[in-house]
Amino acid sequence: MILTVTPSPTIDISVEVDHLERDHKLPAQLSTFQPGGGGVNVSRVLHRLDVATAAIVAVGGTPGDVVTSRLVEAGVDVVPVPIAASTRWVELLHERATGAEYRLVTSTPTLTTDEWHAIVAAVEARAADATFIVLSGGIPPSLPPDFVHEVARVSSAAGVPFVVDTSGPSLAAAVETGPHLVKPSRNELAALMGVAPDELDHEAAARQLVERGARTVVVSLGPEGAFVASDGVAAHITTPPIDMVSTVGAGDTMLAGLLVGLTEGRSVLEAARHGVAHGSATCLTPGGEPAEAAEVARLEAAQVVLTS
Ligand SMILES: Nc1ncnc2c1ncn2[C@@H]1O[C@H](COP(=O)(O)OP(=O)(O)OP(=O)(O)O)[C@@H](O)[C@H]1O
Ligand SMILES: [Mg+2]
Repeated sequence: MILTVTPSPTIDISVEVDHLERDHKLPAQLSTFQPGGGGVNVSRVLHRLDVATAAIVAVGGTPGDVVTSRLVEAGVDVVPVPIAASTRWVELLHERATGAEYRLVTSTPTLTTDEWHAIVAAVEARAADATFIVLSGGIPPSLPPDFVHEVARVSSAAGVPFVVDTSGPSLAAAVETGPHLVKPSRNELAALMGVAPDELDHEAAARQLVERGARTVVVSLGPEGAFVASDGVAAHITTPPIDMVSTVGAGDTMLAGLLVGLTEGRSVLEAARHGVAHGSATCLTPGGEPAEAAEVARLEAAQVVLTS
C-alpha cells in the first residue's frame, strides 16, 4: 500500500465559462467538485489505477468534512486527522474563448503542535503496511522542519522509502533527511537553489541534491518532460507536444505514474518515463481527470531519452 500524507488538502471547484465579463452574471458549468492537494491527488490516481493506497489528510471545518466524505465516496482508504482550522478551497476558472485558466487558492490553515504530532502518529500507525510514504503538497508555514524530519524518521524506522513532493522550507528540510525520491518542479528547484527559474541549471542542481543525500531526484519540466538524477543515472526524458487542455494535477499524476512504475519493478528511469507519460496525458483532460491508458502508452512511446 502506498501511504500518502497531505497536511493541507483542498476542495477543488472548477467552473467553465465561455467569456469572462466583469459585473455580469455569467452562465457557468461546474466541471469539478472534488478533494485535491498533493497526496490526495496521488492517492486518487493510484486508486483509479487499482494500486492499493491510503491517504492521511489533516481536515478542518465543513470543507474538511467534504474532503473526507468525497474520498470515502471515491473508495479511497482515508485517515482523517482533525484540525481546528478550516481546510482550504481552490477555485479554478476556465475561460473557453481564450483557454485562460485562473486558480484562486485560499490560505493554508495553521496547525498546532498537537495537530502535527497527530499526523506523525497517523503515519506511524500505518507505516508497517506501506511500500512508500509520500509527503506531498503544500505544507503550512506553521509546521516546523521537525514535522518533515519526524515523517522521515518514522519512514526510516519502518524501513519504508520516503518520497517527497513539496516546496519551500519543507523541501529543504526533506532533502536533509536523505529521502528515497524527491520530485521538485523547475520553479520549486530554482527556489530551493535561490536562483530565478530561467537561471537554473536543473541538471547540476539535481546532481547536487543527490550529493546532499537524496537517492533519486526527478525534476519535472512541464512541456519539456523531466530530468532524472540517481546513482548511475542522469537523463532527460522529453515528452511530445500535446493539445494542452489543463495542467491541473499534472505533477501529482506524474508522481503517481512514477510510483506505479516503481511498484511494478521498473528501473528509476523507466518509472520516471511512465510518470512523465501520465503527467502529460492528464494535461489532455480538464481538471486533471484520468487519461486513457492507450493515451499514456502512446505518449510514453513517443518520448526521447537523452542521457548525459
Ligand atoms: N505543457 C505540457 N505539455 C506536456 N506535458 C506537460 C505539460 N505541462 C506538464 N506536463 C507534464 O506534467 C509533468 C509535471 O508538470 P510540471 O513540471 O509543471 O509539474 P507540477 O508539479 O505540476 O508543477 P508545480 O507544482 O510547480 O505547479 C511534466 O513532467 C509533464 O509530464
Ligand atoms: Mg507540483
